[in-house]
Amino acid sequence: MIAQRVKEITPFIVMEVLEKAAEMERQGINIIHMEVGEPDFDVPKCVAKAVQHAFDEGRTHYTHSLGDPELRNEISKRYLKEYGVEISPEQVVVTSGSSPAILLTLGILCDSDDEIILSDPGYACYENFIKFVGATPVKVPVFEEDGFQYRPSEIKKQITSKKKE
Ligand SMILES: Cc1ncc(COP(=O)(O)O)c(C=O)c1O
Repeated sequence: MIAQRVKEITPFIVMEVLEKAAEMERQGINIIHMEVGEPDFDVPKCVAKAVQHAFDEGRTHYTHSLGDPELRNEISKRYLKEYGVEISPEQVVVTSGSSPAILLTLGILCDSDDEIILSDPGYACYENFIKFVGATPVKVPVFEEDGFQYRPSEIKKQITSKKKE
């Protein structure tokens, strides 16, 4: 029996459009993709080489549960160099993409009944991540004339005791 919270998750739609587009491409139809935010470049050669090298060295086993310590150390150094932000390697958690990180963060921060403010328009999956952890998404409009940044006045209208800081 599927859990009730899963039934409340609406389709992302993007993947359905992508699958349909791939099917049309297989039929020889020329498609301009405007669905997924796919980069228009391939994996850089140095990254592909490093991945190949790791495979060749047999580095295919479990790492530290928070991510390879060497990688977390490099991420920490990069944040200091690029942004002047001091983050110790112990504060870095490596995930495969941002979705697991967002889900983990929401899982840690949200109790059921909490309300989470989101921009409207915004990334379609955020709402589902919030519902999945049992919290409630609350949309706040953002406008083109503001560069789609939040208006404090619009956020104030939605602040209740249920919102997390
Ligand atoms: C705004 C935004 N957040 C999160 C994600 C999810 O990213 P990932 O594929 O790293 O999980 C995407 C992917 O397109 C995105 O556009």
